[in-house]
Amino acid sequence: MTANLSAVDTAKYVAAKRACDFVEDGMRLGLGTGSTAAWLVRCLGERVRQGLRITGVPTSSRTAELARRAGIRVTTLDEAGWLDLTIDGADEFDADLNLIKGGGGALLQEKIVATASDRMIVIADGTKEVATLGAFPLPVEVIPFGWQTTRSLIEETLAGLDVMGETVTLRMKDDDQPYVTDEGNRILDLHLGRIGNARRMASRLNQIPGVVENGLFIDICDLAVIGSGTGEVRVRDANAGTTATETIDVDRQDNVFADLKR
Ligand code: 5RP
Repeated sequence: MTANLSAVDTAKYVAAKRACDFVEDGMRLGLGTGSTAAWLVRCLGERVRQGLRITGVPTSSRTAELARRAGIRVTTLDEAGWLDLTIDGADEFDADLNLIKGGGGALLQEKIVATASDRMIVIADGTKEVATLGAFPLPVEVIPFGWQTTRSLIEETLAGLDVMGETVTLRMKDDDQPYVTDEGNRILDLHLGRIGNARRMASRLNQIPGVVENGLFIDICDLAVIGSGTGEVRVRDANAGTTATETIDVDRQDNVFADLKR
């Protein structure tokens, strides 16, 4: 199975596996959403089978299901109260570890959970690293009521901000229906090309009636674990300003790969 693992999946796997080293017995852990976070859940499930005791707070119904299947004890954020650590993927991250998230549509729960954690670690393959945020369309969660008016207000707001593009599209599902979030909301994707001032953008968007949350994570992430297809990982600490490079052994007998065959 691992022989067939693509370079990008290897990168996601090694990032997730290295991030597991930050998880300690007894932790209350925020579990992200997306394909990289799915590797994390599989790796954590393997450690739980080996005796690790953790409680996971999933950031989506998809992750909740995956975590339960992996044997991880799952609870709600309200039940957990406060979390020791959240580990999640990202669509883009910059040198200060500011992020764009929400490509998987779970940005609202992801931001609430990450903000309710002592620390947040982002796990990603190297393609997510950018000099300036904004090439990836910025997801904004809006309530269904009057969403077209909300879109117009967003477009007006963008006209006064430092961006390269201003196109706003409603996210759709495969069957031509609007994508619906776990909260029953819609996602507008903002095709900006480049976001000159991400902090200003985040705060302006959240002032617009109908906007629930935007996918910019500013000053939330503490550490990035960046994987590559060769098994190399870079661990970047935003607070210390350090980056360490290591190589992860991709154990082809690891049960996380056996799980994929089921
Ligand atoms: C979901 C997210 C994901 O973390 C982001 O889209 C990255 O996903 P992937 O690991 O599949 O590339 O924000 O809302």
